[in-house]
Amino acid sequence: MIALSETPRLVEPTTAVRISYLTGEQADMRARGSDTSWLTAASTDFDGFVADRVGVRQRWGVPSTLFWFVSGEHYLGTLVVRHRLTEDQGGGHIGYHVVQPWQHRGHATRMLAQGLVIARSAGVDDALLTVDPANEWSRRVIIANGGAPEEGLNHEGEQRFWIRS
Ligand SMILES: CC(C)(COP(=O)(O)OP(=O)(O)OC[C@H]1O[C@@H](n2cnc3c(N)ncnc32)[C@H](O)[C@@H]1OP(=O)(O)O)[C@@H](O)C(=O)NCCC(=O)NCCS
Repeated sequence: MIALSETPRLVEPTTAVRISYLTGEQADMRARGSDTSWLTAASTDFDGFVADRVGVRQRWGVPSTLFWFVSGEHYLGTLVVRHRLTEDQGGGHIGYHVVQPWQHRGHATRMLAQGLVIARSAGVDDALLTVDPANEWSRRVIIANGGAPEEGLNHEGEQRFWIRS
């Protein structure tokens, strides 16, 4: 396994991790059987791809910020903070993924811990997270960060967890 020389941290998207972002996302998409065509555009103009992702943007109709989990030249995953909930509260305040080659090493658990600090500084005191009940690994990430489940499922069939400040 590749040794990481720096503790991974959430940073704004950066061209400094071009190679590892593209190869990591490609490996992840292929492992999930997902469409990789967006990577062609990203690899052709990575500067533009990154520029479109920096800062607070309207996504899903609400202000949100993207972060990449990075150690030196290595990109490990992505986390998004929605500064407020969408009208139907789908997706909650925070979403994330760790790319397949870096999974099962505690990165998502630590990434969410950092994401909660960022979310609080953006005014999200109590964070809602939603997860497919079959996604045991993500449920564990949320519970390890203090997530308390609500009864039942939301309109998307997802379980809702609150992480209170
Ligand atoms: C869910 C996901 C974020 C977990 O990332 P990760 O970095 O592997 O998570 P961690 O290493 O912090 O592990 C979290 C828990 O899952 C378990 N886990 C993770 N990968 C596992 C594997 N391959 N086999 C068995 N258990 C696994 C860990 O043991 C840990 O449980 P524990 O705390 O009881 O030991 C990652 O699999 C992913 O990105 N999946 C696709 C996108 C997704 O589901 N996003 C979340 C949407 S809510």
